[in-house]
Amino acid sequence: MTDFLDISPYDDRLEKIEIECLLEAVFKRYGYDFRNYAYPSLRRRIWHRASTEQLETISLLQNLVLHDRDAFERLLSDLVIPVTEMFRDPGMFKLIRERVMPILNQSTFVRVWHAGCATGEEAYSMAIMLEESRMLSKSRIYATDISEASLQRARQGMISQDRLSLYAHNYLQGGGEQDFASYYESNHGLATLHPRILERIVFAEHNLVTDRSFNEFQIIFCRNVMIYFDTALRERVHGLLYDSLSPGGFLVLGNKESVAFTSFAGRYETWNDEYRIYRKLR
Ligand SMILES: C[S@@+](CC[C@H](N)C(=O)[O-])C[C@H]1O[C@@H](n2cnc3c(N)ncnc32)[C@H](O)[C@@H]1O
Repeated sequence: MTDFLDISPYDDRLEKIEIECLLEAVFKRYGYDFRNYAYPSLRRRIWHRASTEQLETISLLQNLVLHDRDAFERLLSDLVIPVTEMFRDPGMFKLIRERVMPILNQSTFVRVWHAGCATGEEAYSMAIMLEESRMLSKSRIYATDISEASLQRARQGMISQDRLSLYAHNYLQGGGEQDFASYYESNHGLATLHPRILERIVFAEHNLVTDRSFNEFQIIFCRNVMIYFDTALRERVHGLLYDSLSPGGFLVLGNKESVAFTSFAGRYETWNDEYRIYRKLR
Protein backbone atom coordinates (compact mmCIF):
# COMPACT_ATOMS: atom_id res chain seq x y z
CA MET A 1 0.00 0.00 0.00
CA THR A 2 2.73 2.47 0.99
CA ASP A 3 4.05 2.09 -2.53
CA PHE A 4 1.06 4.03 -3.86
CA LEU A 5 0.95 6.55 -1.04
CA ASP A 6 4.64 7.37 -1.43
CA ILE A 7 4.33 8.48 -4.99
CA SER A 8 5.19 12.16 -5.22
CA PRO A 9 3.40 14.05 -8.05
CA TYR A 10 6.22 13.51 -10.47
CA ASP A 11 7.58 10.17 -9.57
CA ASP A 12 9.04 8.64 -12.77
CA ARG A 13 6.62 5.73 -12.64
CA LEU A 14 3.62 7.97 -12.41
CA GLU A 15 4.91 10.09 -15.27
CA LYS A 16 5.35 6.97 -17.40
CA ILE A 17 1.79 5.85 -16.64
CA GLU A 18 0.45 9.25 -17.66
CA ILE A 19 2.47 9.27 -20.88
CA GLU A 20 1.26 5.78 -21.77
CA CYS A 21 -2.35 6.82 -21.10
CA LEU A 22 -1.93 9.96 -23.23
CA LEU A 23 -0.48 7.97 -26.16
CA GLU A 24 -3.23 5.37 -25.85
CA ALA A 25 -5.85 8.14 -25.83
CA VAL A 26 -4.31 9.82 -28.89
CA PHE A 27 -4.27 6.50 -30.75
CA LYS A 28 -7.89 5.66 -29.86
CA ARG A 29 -9.23 9.15 -30.53
CA TYR A 30 -7.20 10.21 -33.59
CA GLY A 31 -5.55 7.01 -34.95
CA TYR A 32 -1.95 8.31 -34.63
CA ASP A 33 0.18 5.68 -32.97
CA PHE A 34 3.17 7.07 -31.07
CA ARG A 35 3.23 4.22 -28.53
CA ASN A 36 6.51 2.81 -29.82
CA TYR A 37 8.43 6.00 -30.35
CA ALA A 38 11.71 6.36 -28.44
CA TYR A 39 10.74 7.40 -24.90
CA PRO A 40 13.26 10.14 -23.94
CA SER A 41 12.54 12.37 -26.92
CA LEU A 42 8.79 11.70 -26.72
CA ARG A 43 8.80 12.63 -23.03
CA ARG A 44 10.64 15.90 -23.70
CA ARG A 45 8.23 16.90 -26.44
CA ILE A 46 5.13 16.04 -24.42
CA TRP A 47 6.37 18.15 -21.51
CA HIS A 48 7.13 20.99 -23.88
CA ARG A 49 3.51 20.92 -25.06
CA ALA A 50 2.13 20.64 -21.51
CA SER A 51 4.13 23.65 -20.31
CA THR A 52 3.28 25.71 -23.43
CA GLU A 53 -0.40 25.03 -22.68
CA GLN A 54 0.35 26.02 -19.06
CA LEU A 55 -0.68 22.62 -17.74
CA GLU A 56 0.90 21.08 -14.67
CA THR A 57 0.33 17.43 -15.44
CA ILE A 58 0.27 15.18 -18.48
CA SER A 59 -3.17 13.95 -17.41
CA LEU A 60 -4.44 17.51 -17.91
CA LEU A 61 -2.85 17.53 -21.37
CA GLN A 62 -4.61 14.24 -22.13
CA ASN A 63 -7.93 15.77 -21.11
CA LEU A 64 -7.31 18.79 -23.32
CA VAL A 65 -6.27 16.91 -26.49
CA LEU A 66 -9.13 14.43 -26.15
CA HIS A 67 -11.69 17.23 -26.18
CA ASP A 68 -10.03 19.78 -28.41
CA ARG A 69 -8.84 18.82 -31.88
CA ASP A 70 -6.82 22.02 -32.28
CA ALA A 71 -4.91 21.19 -29.11
CA PHE A 72 -4.24 17.74 -30.55
CA GLU A 73 -2.88 19.32 -33.76
CA ARG A 74 -0.53 21.44 -31.63
CA LEU A 75 0.68 18.32 -29.81
CA LEU A 76 1.09 16.53 -33.15
CA SER A 77 3.25 19.33 -34.50
CA ASP A 78 5.52 18.92 -31.46
CA LEU A 79 5.77 15.16 -31.90
CA VAL A 80 6.76 15.23 -35.58
CA ILE A 81 10.09 16.86 -36.24
CA PRO A 82 10.03 18.28 -39.78
CA VAL A 83 13.72 19.24 -39.89
CA THR A 84 15.11 18.83 -43.39
CA GLU A 85 17.00 20.63 -46.13
CA MET A 86 17.75 20.34 -49.83
CA PHE A 87 20.74 18.12 -50.67
CA ARG A 88 21.18 17.41 -46.95
CA ASP A 89 24.41 15.37 -46.62
CA PRO A 90 25.68 16.44 -50.07
CA GLY A 91 28.23 13.59 -50.23
CA MET A 92 25.38 11.10 -50.20
CA PHE A 93 23.63 12.90 -53.06
CA LYS A 94 26.90 12.99 -55.03
CA LEU A 95 27.28 9.25 -54.64
CA ILE A 96 23.69 8.65 -55.73
CA ARG A 97 24.15 10.98 -58.69
CA GLU A 98 27.38 9.36 -59.87
CA ARG A 99 26.96 5.70 -59.01
CA VAL A 100 23.31 4.88 -58.29
CA MET A 101 21.66 6.82 -61.13
CA PRO A 102 23.35 4.74 -63.86
CA ILE A 103 22.00 1.58 -62.21
CA LEU A 104 18.50 3.05 -61.83
CA ASN A 105 18.65 4.12 -65.46
CA GLN A 106 18.65 0.46 -66.48
CA SER A 107 14.97 0.26 -65.41
CA THR A 108 12.33 1.26 -67.93
CA PHE A 109 10.46 3.19 -65.23
CA VAL A 110 11.90 4.43 -61.93
CA ARG A 111 9.77 4.65 -58.79
CA VAL A 112 11.26 6.57 -55.87
CA TRP A 113 9.81 6.75 -52.35
CA HIS A 114 10.74 9.38 -49.78
CA ALA A 115 9.22 7.96 -46.58
CA GLY A 116 9.00 10.69 -43.91
CA CYS A 117 9.64 13.51 -46.40
CA ALA A 118 8.75 16.38 -44.01
CA THR A 119 8.34 19.55 -46.10
CA GLY A 120 9.61 17.89 -49.29
CA GLU A 121 13.15 19.26 -49.75
CA GLU A 122 14.72 15.80 -50.11
CA ALA A 123 12.20 14.89 -52.83
CA TYR A 124 12.84 18.20 -54.64
CA SER A 125 16.57 17.38 -54.59
CA MET A 126 16.04 13.93 -56.03
CA ALA A 127 13.77 15.31 -58.76
CA ILE A 128 16.49 17.79 -59.76
CA MET A 129 19.09 15.01 -59.93
CA LEU A 130 16.76 12.82 -62.00
CA GLU A 131 16.22 15.69 -64.41
CA GLU A 132 19.96 16.27 -64.74
CA SER A 133 20.43 12.54 -65.41
CA ARG A 134 17.70 12.83 -68.08
CA MET A 135 15.56 10.35 -66.16
CA LEU A 136 12.83 12.56 -64.72
CA SER A 137 10.35 11.87 -67.51
CA LYS A 138 10.52 8.12 -66.81
CA SER A 139 10.34 8.53 -63.03
CA ARG A 140 7.65 8.98 -60.42
CA ILE A 141 8.55 10.25 -56.97
CA TYR A 142 6.25 9.45 -54.05
CA ALA A 143 6.92 11.61 -51.01
CA THR A 144 4.96 10.70 -47.91
CA ASP A 145 4.71 11.83 -44.32
CA ILE A 146 2.47 11.46 -41.29
CA SER A 147 2.03 15.23 -41.06
CA GLU A 148 -0.58 16.81 -43.35
CA ALA A 149 0.69 20.27 -42.37
CA SER A 150 4.19 19.42 -43.67
CA LEU A 151 2.74 17.91 -46.85
CA GLN A 152 0.68 21.03 -47.54
CA ARG A 153 3.86 23.08 -47.47
CA ALA A 154 5.70 20.52 -49.59
CA ARG A 155 3.03 20.66 -52.31
CA GLN A 156 3.50 24.42 -52.65
CA GLY A 157 7.16 23.98 -53.65
CA MET A 158 8.15 27.04 -51.71
CA ILE A 159 11.76 27.49 -50.69
CA SER A 160 12.62 29.94 -47.92
CA GLN A 161 14.73 32.81 -49.23
CA ASP A 162 17.01 32.57 -46.22
CA ARG A 163 17.90 28.98 -47.10
CA LEU A 164 18.68 29.51 -50.78
CA SER A 165 22.40 30.09 -50.33
CA LEU A 166 22.77 26.98 -48.15
CA TYR A 167 20.86 24.91 -50.71
CA ALA A 168 22.90 26.29 -53.62
CA HIS A 169 26.05 25.35 -51.69
CA ASN A 170 24.73 21.84 -50.90
CA TYR A 171 23.71 21.40 -54.54
CA LEU A 172 27.25 22.16 -55.77
CA GLN A 173 28.79 19.93 -53.08
CA GLY A 174 26.38 17.22 -54.18
CA GLY A 175 27.83 17.29 -57.70
CA GLY A 176 25.38 19.78 -59.28
CA GLU A 177 26.78 21.57 -62.29
CA GLN A 178 23.92 23.83 -63.38
CA ASP A 179 22.92 27.19 -62.02
CA PHE A 180 20.85 26.26 -58.93
CA ALA A 181 18.77 29.42 -59.47
CA SER A 182 17.38 27.90 -62.70
CA TYR A 183 15.28 25.52 -60.55
CA TYR A 184 13.14 28.16 -58.88
CA GLU A 185 11.38 31.40 -59.64
CA SER A 186 11.60 34.35 -57.29
CA ASN A 187 8.58 36.59 -56.91
CA HIS A 188 7.92 39.16 -54.22
CA GLY A 189 10.54 37.65 -51.94
CA LEU A 190 9.25 34.10 -52.42
CA ALA A 191 11.19 31.34 -54.17
CA THR A 192 9.05 28.64 -55.79
CA LEU A 193 10.34 25.43 -57.28
CA HIS A 194 9.80 25.23 -61.03
CA PRO A 195 6.54 23.33 -61.87
CA ARG A 196 8.37 20.93 -64.23
CA ILE A 197 10.23 19.58 -61.14
CA LEU A 198 7.29 19.69 -58.73
CA GLU A 199 4.81 17.95 -61.03
CA ARG A 200 6.74 14.65 -61.00
CA ILE A 201 6.29 14.36 -57.21
CA VAL A 202 3.19 12.86 -55.60
CA PHE A 203 2.83 14.05 -52.00
CA ALA A 204 0.57 11.87 -49.87
CA GLU A 205 -0.17 11.06 -46.26
CA HIS A 206 1.27 7.71 -45.20
CA ASN A 207 1.96 6.52 -41.68
CA LEU A 208 4.87 4.10 -41.44
CA VAL A 209 3.47 2.71 -38.20
CA THR A 210 -0.07 1.92 -39.26
CA ASP A 211 -0.18 1.91 -43.08
CA ARG A 212 0.93 -0.76 -45.50
CA SER A 213 3.23 -0.96 -48.46
CA PHE A 214 1.58 0.66 -51.48
CA ASN A 215 3.97 0.03 -54.40
CA GLU A 216 7.32 -1.42 -55.39
CA PHE A 217 10.25 0.98 -55.63
CA GLN A 218 13.72 0.99 -57.15
CA ILE A 219 14.95 3.30 -54.40
CA ILE A 220 13.58 4.27 -50.98
CA PHE A 221 14.85 7.11 -48.83
CA CYS A 222 13.84 6.84 -45.19
CA ARG A 223 16.28 9.17 -43.51
CA ASN A 224 16.18 10.50 -39.97
CA VAL A 225 12.76 9.01 -39.26
CA MET A 226 13.50 5.71 -37.50
CA ILE A 227 15.85 7.41 -35.00
CA TYR A 228 12.62 8.43 -33.24
CA PHE A 229 11.34 4.82 -33.03
CA ASP A 230 12.07 2.13 -30.45
CA THR A 231 13.73 -1.14 -31.48
CA ALA A 232 10.48 -3.09 -31.99
CA LEU A 233 8.95 -0.39 -34.17
CA ARG A 234 12.14 -0.02 -36.19
CA GLU A 235 12.02 -3.75 -36.91
CA ARG A 236 8.42 -3.47 -38.10
CA VAL A 237 9.13 -0.48 -40.34
CA HIS A 238 12.16 -2.24 -41.82
CA GLY A 239 9.77 -5.03 -42.80
CA LEU A 240 7.54 -2.55 -44.60
CA LEU A 241 10.49 -0.95 -46.43
CA TYR A 242 11.92 -4.33 -47.40
CA ASP A 243 8.55 -5.44 -48.81
CA SER A 244 8.33 -2.18 -50.78
CA LEU A 245 11.70 -2.53 -52.54
CA SER A 246 12.20 -4.34 -55.81
CA PRO A 247 15.01 -6.95 -55.87
CA GLY A 248 18.30 -5.06 -56.31
CA GLY A 249 16.58 -1.88 -55.06
CA PHE A 250 18.36 0.68 -52.85
CA LEU A 251 17.50 1.69 -49.30
CA VAL A 252 18.97 5.00 -48.11
CA LEU A 253 18.93 5.71 -44.37
CA GLY A 254 20.09 8.65 -42.24
CA ASN A 255 23.68 8.80 -41.01
CA LYS A 256 22.75 7.51 -37.53
CA GLU A 257 20.61 4.67 -38.89
CA SER A 258 21.43 1.18 -40.10
CA VAL A 259 19.92 -2.16 -41.08
CA ALA A 260 22.43 -3.82 -38.72
CA PHE A 261 20.79 -5.23 -35.58
CA THR A 262 17.53 -5.80 -37.44
CA SER A 263 16.45 -9.17 -38.77
CA PHE A 264 16.82 -7.75 -42.30
CA ALA A 265 20.60 -7.28 -42.06
CA GLY A 266 21.33 -10.47 -44.01
CA ARG A 267 18.93 -9.55 -46.80
CA TYR A 268 20.85 -6.48 -47.91
CA GLU A 269 24.30 -5.81 -49.27
CA THR A 270 25.88 -2.83 -47.48
CA TRP A 271 26.48 -0.84 -50.64
CA ASN A 272 28.01 2.18 -48.94
CA ASP A 273 28.51 2.20 -45.20
CA GLU A 274 29.44 5.88 -44.83
CA TYR A 275 26.20 7.08 -46.38
CA ARG A 276 24.04 4.19 -45.14
CA ILE A 277 23.07 2.92 -48.57
CA TYR A 278 21.90 -0.69 -48.71
CA ARG A 279 20.96 -2.83 -51.68
CA LYS A 280 18.28 -5.51 -51.43
CA LEU A 281 19.70 -8.90 -52.40
CA ARG A 282 18.05 -10.53 -55.39
C1 LIG B 1 13.56 14.74 -39.15
S1 LIG B 1 12.34 14.61 -40.41
C2 LIG B 1 13.29 13.87 -41.71
C3 LIG B 1 13.01 14.48 -43.07
C4 LIG B 1 13.86 13.95 -44.22
N1 LIG B 1 13.68 12.53 -44.40
C5 LIG B 1 15.31 14.28 -44.02
O1 LIG B 1 16.08 13.44 -43.55
O2 LIG B 1 15.71 15.42 -44.33
C6 LIG B 1 11.34 13.26 -39.81
C7 LIG B 1 10.01 13.17 -40.50
O3 LIG B 1 9.43 11.90 -40.21
C8 LIG B 1 8.03 12.05 -40.13
N2 LIG B 1 7.44 10.93 -39.40
C9 LIG B 1 7.48 10.68 -38.06
N3 LIG B 1 6.76 9.58 -37.79
C10 LIG B 1 6.28 9.12 -38.97
C11 LIG B 1 5.46 8.02 -39.33
N4 LIG B 1 5.00 7.17 -38.40
N5 LIG B 1 5.17 7.84 -40.63
C12 LIG B 1 5.61 8.71 -41.58
N6 LIG B 1 6.38 9.78 -41.30
C13 LIG B 1 6.70 9.98 -40.00
C14 LIG B 1 7.88 13.39 -39.41
O4 LIG B 1 6.59 13.95 -39.63
C15 LIG B 1 9.00 14.21 -40.03
O5 LIG B 1 8.54 14.95 -41.12
